[in-house]
Amino acid sequence: MKMENLEDLYLHTLEDARSAEQQMVENLPKMAKAASSDQLRRAFNEHLEETKRQLERLEGLFEELEAEPEGHKCKGMEGIIREGEELLKEKGSDKSTLDAALIAAAQKAEHYEIATYGTARTYAHQLGYDDAAKTLDQILTEEAKTNEKLTKLAESRINEQAAKA
Ligand SMILES: [Fe+2]
Ligand SMILES: [Fe+2]
Repeated sequence: MKMENLEDLYLHTLEDARSAEQQMVENLPKMAKAASSDQLRRAFNEHLEETKRQLERLEGLFEELEAEPEGHKCKGMEGIIREGEELLKEKGSDKSTLDAALIAAAQKAEHYEIATYGTARTYAHQLGYDDAAKTLDQILTEEAKTNEKLTKLAESRINEQAAKA
């Protein structure tokens, strides 16, 4: 992929976001399955559906630019997911500790997405793609809300229970 100007960098960032979301569509069902807390499982499943809709909107941005995604793989998200999986393999028998680890892994993914969408939104704005900037801002808000939801879940019960285990 050429990287000669902001337009190229913008497309690359969209590709990165697309790959990250695709990886999360694969990963969120596994995280939901591993969760013990009903609330946490629900949060993962809800974000799975939201993530699928985000992917559709991203595809729409490629269509508007008449650009074909090149199939770039987001290595950052790949690493975050792998790190989460490794942590879960280390798990003991305590369910709350496992849930706390799942939340931490998910929050790293959300923060990564927030960084990507923040950057992409700024590029879109600078390039004069105002509708795309709006779409990216909406997705960014969804990621931030998911992150807040996870923080609340962690602070409300799960970390407390893990501390008692
Ligand atoms: Fe997302
Ligand atoms: Fe997300």
